[in-house]
Amino acid sequence: MLGLKLLTDPRWANIAESNLEEILTDHAWCEQKAASNAITLITNNSEHEDLVHELAAIAIEEMEHFKMVVDIIKKRGYTLGRERADDYVNQLFKFMKKDGSRNQAFIDRLLFAAMIEARSCERFRVLSQNIKDEELKKFYYDLMVSEANHYTTFLNFAKQYTIDVDVDKRWKEWLEFEGELIQSYGKKEAIHG
Ligand SMILES: [Fe+2]
Ligand SMILES: [Fe+2]
Repeated sequence: MLGLKLLTDPRWANIAESNLEEILTDHAWCEQKAASNAITLITNNSEHEDLVHELAAIAIEEMEHFKMVVDIIKKRGYTLGRERADDYVNQLFKFMKKDGSRNQAFIDRLLFAAMIEARSCERFRVLSQNIKDEELKKFYYDLMVSEANHYTTFLNFAKQYTIDVDVDKRWKEWLEFEGELIQSYGKKEAIHG
């Protein structure tokens, strides 16, 4: 799925469903971070008009997702907890190239975003197929479709704007790295846990 090297054990969905308040809090903050990342990409690369346009739409959509999750939390009588550290994303952030040319750093940030979208999409799929809660099943199915579109957008921009990166080769490196990394996860009630 989306080139991912390792698929999530469906039993992770049972862990997630055992603590919905926690998974929903973690999820809400994932959406907020996705919006922030889109805004950072816009801020740092504002010369690319079509990127600014598309990522503005994505930032809005991610904050709509944030609001949807927060609404579910409220409706169910849960409390939105403080922002959670995302160890998985922090590891990917470390892998991202920050040196080299400005364009190389730009392309790698797009691939970083595509990678997170790909795994999030896969996790939402596992939730939509395995949890028993009917409302959340449908909710995660819809989000899976949306994050798959974001994944495609980020990867296509990386291919469109590259001038000094072999994007296909670098994307393979990302997939290899992520495939190793994700082996230590799948045990916690967090979207990337
Ligand atoms: Fe989202
Ligand atoms: Fe997304």
